[in-house]
Amino acid sequence: MNTQYSILFAAPVLAAAACLAGCHGDRSDKPPRQFLPDMDDSPKFKPQTKAEFFADGRSMRLPVPGTVAFSRQNMDRDVLITKPEWAYPFIAQRSNLLKSSWEFYEGALPARLDDGSIKYDTTGKVFANVVDRIPLDLSPELLARGQERFNIYCAACHGYEGDGKGMVGDPNRPTGWVGGARNLLETQYQDPTNLKGKDGYLFYVARQGFYDGTKAQKMPGYAHALDAVDAWAVVAWLRVLQEAKNGTPADIPADKVQAMNTQRAELQAAKAKAAEEARKLEEAKKAGQNQGGTP
Ligand code: HEC
Repeated sequence: MNTQYSILFAAPVLAAAACLAGCHGDRSDKPPRQFLPDMDDSPKFKPQTKAEFFADGRSMRLPVPGTVAFSRQNMDRDVLITKPEWAYPFIAQRSNLLKSSWEFYEGALPARLDDGSIKYDTTGKVFANVVDRIPLDLSPELLARGQERFNIYCAACHGYEGDGKGMVGDPNRPTGWVGGARNLLETQYQDPTNLKGKDGYLFYVARQGFYDGTKAQKMPGYAHALDAVDAWAVVAWLRVLQEAKNGTPADIPADKVQAMNTQRAELQAAKAKAAEEARKLEEAKKAGQNQGGTP
């Protein structure tokens, strides 16, 4: 055996012997062996211990007054059951942290107590005023986004036109969803003097779904897929669909009518031209046949 092989063979044997002789973690009266003492004994603050460094003698700092625990693990189930009046407002506060506008994020304003503070109950939020109109500036981009999101998340049940005749939602189809999806072009969803006609209500249903009085879920919510801006965009697109359904030819701007008429005239001219050419071709064919053919 040459020297190289002896070293290779000796290394594991030595390592095993070192372990048998006693390693960090073994029970012994003697001080433990430390292979990397500077890492074992590095100065550090352990949680909930004393520290000379700070004047108050604690190793941990207190949170800034008013701090709300955020993104910690979920509330203990026992706390939810035994102290709901404490737990639910806390959860609601957490979920509202950093959300500057209730109108924008919830589509509604919160109910308030006499002292002006926000009222919470065991469902978390209590809404007072549902907003009538989208709290965003409308733009062609927002409408395009709304059309795209509506077609992805709503049209399967409510139909591309919002009339409730989607592949899944139409109860007259063999695949119809239980109960059938609503025709969202009904006047009740258009009139903002009625709750169901308010933009904030449509926003809420898009994200939270719809439960009827029996608490049975009739429609799933799409909050996982539609953030606040997307949900407002969907509402905006829904308004476009309603407007289009209510529209008459008189609503079309004059320049668009002009453009459509020109287009139609061009199309008709092109068709006439094609027909004329086909006729000529047919004639030529006949003439050719007559020339070459035998009587
Ligand atoms: C899986 C099918 C399905 C999808 C997808 C769906 N809905 Fe619905 N939706 C329903 C059904 C079913 C109802 C009717 C519930 C009833 O009246 O019993 C309904 C009802 C509604 C209502 C009326 C609620 C009321 O109070 O009368 C609105 C508004 C609505 N949907 C909006 C939307 C929007 C916006 C989307 C897309 C983000 C969407 N829905 C996607 C099935 C669906």
